[in-house]
Amino acid sequence: MIDSWPTSARLWDRAKASLPGGVSTGMRASMLPHPLFFRSGQGPSLTDVDGHTYLDYVLGWGPVILGHGHPALTDAVARRLPHGATFGAGHELEYLAAEAVIEAIPGVDRVLWSNTGSEADQIALRLARAATGRHRFVKMTGHYHGWSDTFLLGYRPDANGRLDQPGTKGQHKSALADVALATWGDLDSVASILRDPAQDIAALFVEPVLCNSGVIAPPDGYLAGLRALCDETGTVLVFDEVITGFRLARGGATERYGVLPDLVVLAKALAGGYPVAAVAGRASILDQTTQGVVHAGTYNGNPVVLAAVQATIETLSAPGVYPAFEDAGRRLADGMRTTLDKHGVVGAVNQVGPVVQVLPGMDRCDTFTQFLAGDQQWYDAVIVELLRRGVFVLPGGRWYLSTAHTLADVDTTVSAFDEAVAATVLTQGQPRSAMRDESVVG
Ligand SMILES: Cc1ncc(COP(=O)(O)O)c(C=O)c1O
Repeated sequence: MIDSWPTSARLWDRAKASLPGGVSTGMRASMLPHPLFFRSGQGPSLTDVDGHTYLDYVLGWGPVILGHGHPALTDAVARRLPHGATFGAGHELEYLAAEAVIEAIPGVDRVLWSNTGSEADQIALRLARAATGRHRFVKMTGHYHGWSDTFLLGYRPDANGRLDQPGTKGQHKSALADVALATWGDLDSVASILRDPAQDIAALFVEPVLCNSGVIAPPDGYLAGLRALCDETGTVLVFDEVITGFRLARGGATERYGVLPDLVVLAKALAGGYPVAAVAGRASILDQTTQGVVHAGTYNGNPVVLAAVQATIETLSAPGVYPAFEDAGRRLADGMRTTLDKHGVVGAVNQVGPVVQVLPGMDRCDTFTQFLAGDQQWYDAVIVELLRRGVFVLPGGRWYLSTAHTLADVDTTVSAFDEAVAATVLTQGQPRSAMRDESVVG
C-alpha cells in the first residue's frame, strides 16, 4: 500500500517557483492528493518519481489510447525524428495521414490539421460562419469545446449556480452574445432556437456522447433529430469528437451512431499522445480556406506528429481492437456496479466503449443536471484510496481504457476499487445522496 509521495511533493514544491501552481494546466492542480510527478510509462502502467507503479486510467487525459510507449507508435516517431522537426511547407505525411482519417470516418472528404482541440473548434466555427453567413452558435450546457473565450461558456455553473455567465475570470462578457445554450437530450430546446431566424445560428456544436459531464450517451434518435433540424434550418452540425474520435469506433461516434455531421473535430486519441488536432468534413465547407477563410498555425501538419497519426490509425485498424474495448469497458463498469452494490453504496456507472464514468450518489445519470448532483467529495476520497492501491484515475469520475489494458488488469482494478470503496465508506460514510430522499433533480 502506498502511503506517501515524498519525491513528488518535493518536485511539486520546486515547480511552484517557476510554474504557476507547479503545473502546466490549471486542471492538473486538482489531481489528488496533490499533483504527482512521473518518470515513465509502459503499456497500461505509469511509474512515478517515488518508484510507485500504477495502472493508468488517466492516459494523459485521453490521448494515450494505445497505452504508453506502444512500439509501432514509438518506432514511427523515432524513424521520423532524424529528418527534421518541422518544414513549414508541404510533405507527404500531410496527405497520407489525411487519407487515413478520410478512410476511417464516414462522410469526410477533407482534413485541416491543427494542434489542439481548442484551436480546431475555433476554426470549425469560423468555417460554419463563413458557409452560412450567420454569426451565433448553439452549445449544450455541460459540453466542453476547449478553453477559448468563444467556447468556455455554459460548461459548469458559477458560484451562484448560473450557467449563462462567463466560464472564467478574464473572459469578456461579449463572448456570451454569440452563444445560445441548449439542453443535451432535449430536441425541443434545440428546435426552438434553430427555427428562430433572429437567433442567427451558424452552427450547432455537440459532443456526440456527453463525455465531459457524465459520459451520457445520446438518447435513441437524438443525433438523427439534430441532423434533421440542422438540415431543415441550414445549420452546420459539428460533432466535437475530441474524446469520442477513434475511441468509440474507428470512425468515432459518427460511425457508432450512423449520423453524419458536417464537421468532425478530432484530437486526443488521433495521435496516441502526440499533440495534434484536426477538423474533418465536407469539402464544400473546408475548401473555404482556399476562398478567404483564414486558417493558420506554425505547427499545423507537423511531420513528427503526423507520423504518430498514421501509426495510431494503422494500429487501431487491426481486427478486434474495438470489440476488445467493449469487453474491457463493460467488465470494468459491471465490476464497479457490483462493488457499489456490495457495499450498499448508491452510485451509477455509465459506460460507452472504453470510456467509463463513476457517478456517486445517484441511481442513474441521463442528464447534465443529474450529473451535477454527484457527490464529488466522497469520490475524491475514493481517488486517493485507489492511488494508494496502485490505480491512477482522473478527478471527476471519468476513466479511459487503452488497448494495452488486459481483462486481467481490469480485474485487478476492480479489486482495488472494491477495497477503496470499503475504505471510504468506513472513513467518509456513504456518498451524500445515498440518503435516497435527497433526490437528484433533472
Ligand atoms: C470534447 C472536447 N473538445 C475540445 C477539447 C479541447 O481540446 P484541447 O485540450 O486539445 O484544446 C477537449 C479537451 O478535453 C474536449 O474534451
